[in-house]
Amino acid sequence: MPRLLSLSRAARLVGTTRGKLQKRVQDGEITSFEGKVNLTELSQLYPQAIIEDTAMLDRVEEIIERSRHKARNRLPLPSDKQSLLARASVLADELALAKLDLSNFAFLIHKLKTKLHTLSANSGPEAKDILQQLSRWLESELPKTSELVSPSHQLLVQDTMLRLMTAQVQLLPSQHEYLVEGTNTLLEAGLSAGFALNYGCSNGNCGKCKARLLSGQVSKTRPHDYSFTEAEKNRNYILMCCNTALTDIVIEADEAGNTNDIPVQDITAKVKKIEPADDTVQILNLKTPRTKRLRFLAGQQATLHLNNALSKTLPIASCPCDDMNIQLHISNSDGDEFSRVVFNQLKQGDEIRIEGPLGDFILDDDATNPLILLAMDTGFAPIKSLAEHALTLAHTEHVYLYWFTSGNHTHYMQNQCRAWADAFDSLQYAGLTIPQGLESDAGKREFSGQLARLGSEQAGLANSHVYLAGNKYFIEEGKKYFKALSLPRVMYQQVD
Ligand code: FES
Repeated sequence: MPRLLSLSRAARLVGTTRGKLQKRVQDGEITSFEGKVNLTELSQLYPQAIIEDTAMLDRVEEIIERSRHKARNRLPLPSDKQSLLARASVLADELALAKLDLSNFAFLIHKLKTKLHTLSANSGPEAKDILQQLSRWLESELPKTSELVSPSHQLLVQDTMLRLMTAQVQLLPSQHEYLVEGTNTLLEAGLSAGFALNYGCSNGNCGKCKARLLSGQVSKTRPHDYSFTEAEKNRNYILMCCNTALTDIVIEADEAGNTNDIPVQDITAKVKKIEPADDTVQILNLKTPRTKRLRFLAGQQATLHLNNALSKTLPIASCPCDDMNIQLHISNSDGDEFSRVVFNQLKQGDEIRIEGPLGDFILDDDATNPLILLAMDTGFAPIKSLAEHALTLAHTEHVYLYWFTSGNHTHYMQNQCRAWADAFDSLQYAGLTIPQGLESDAGKREFSGQLARLGSEQAGLANSHVYLAGNKYFIEEGKKYFKALSLPRVMYQQVD
């Protein structure tokens, strides 16, 4: 039986993104069987993916160390020994079946050779010649099979190690997949993988993260106060925030499909850090309570309330995969009272009420189309959230990130963008400047010239999803340019 791997596991194994691997499936470079790929074909497509075993062992150490660190700070976690034993037991079953298959095939080959010999002995000269040729071919081909499996054998070893350290979760009905490492909870791992799972307290009280276990084994990471009804118990319901996966599992779980699936929340967070990004922008980092985090989709906004007296709606600049840490970029360019207080009075530890999320400037999470992200000045905030989410999901074939600045604004997170471009070969970044701004005709001409130049460099432009965030002039000019192109998805977010 050929060894089939899910796209997520295969991408992880060969060090590429799910989106890129999916593209190679679509282009016919590798065959897909019900969403899975063959390990032998995978090893031929990625011969460079055979890494030294020590790298995998280092990874084991890293995961164990991280689990130990968590264990010191949390309620009792199941030992890693328990996860390893459960996964090793599944692998041992598979190994026993594979050995049985192997000995059956060896016996079959032996019977085939005997049969050919008997038939040849009892045949006329013409048939005898054909049967002897077949016997010789079989004898010459058999030794080659070990050479054929050699590259895929190494990948199979790595896959086995990966399966020992991680378990795969498949979510139904969405069919999304992600891996759970060490003793992370199903909820933590799912959110970190970028999926908009339904949850509330993250602490075993509200029951909002309940899911139905359809196959595989899980283990509790902590006790919980939420009690299931008898019917729920009989139908194998579990809490995702209180369980980890011991083996590969399939669960039925609620995920937000659109912005209406996430309720508006009212949360009091604390200022974790506030620091100037340049002369005009402050980066505000807020921390929510562990049991009351802000659930949102990348690219959405929230209203911040200062002392119940001042409020402002701003795009969230962070990724929903890190829901306790909310980042916002505050500009002082319009000189309003809210910005004045943030720039001059707000300090670490101060409380801020967050109300949200709002808006529909969000990705189509299941699309693999190339993404073109265009920001101007602090329009970078929602674009940063989208970029981080797209990189986390790893569905997208390619992300092109262009950040325009005008006037005295700077590319205040240029290092972050360059670090992404260095770390992910699926992301390309360019920082661009329109010194005179888009209020002037010269600025508008300059901007449309730059858009046309960027458009001519995009091989897959016609198939791209485009997102623009910036001031009203930026949005107006962007609309003029992109309207004529009839692209499948163009989204705008005004950020003043
Ligand atoms: S999120 Fe509340 S019980 Fe899991």
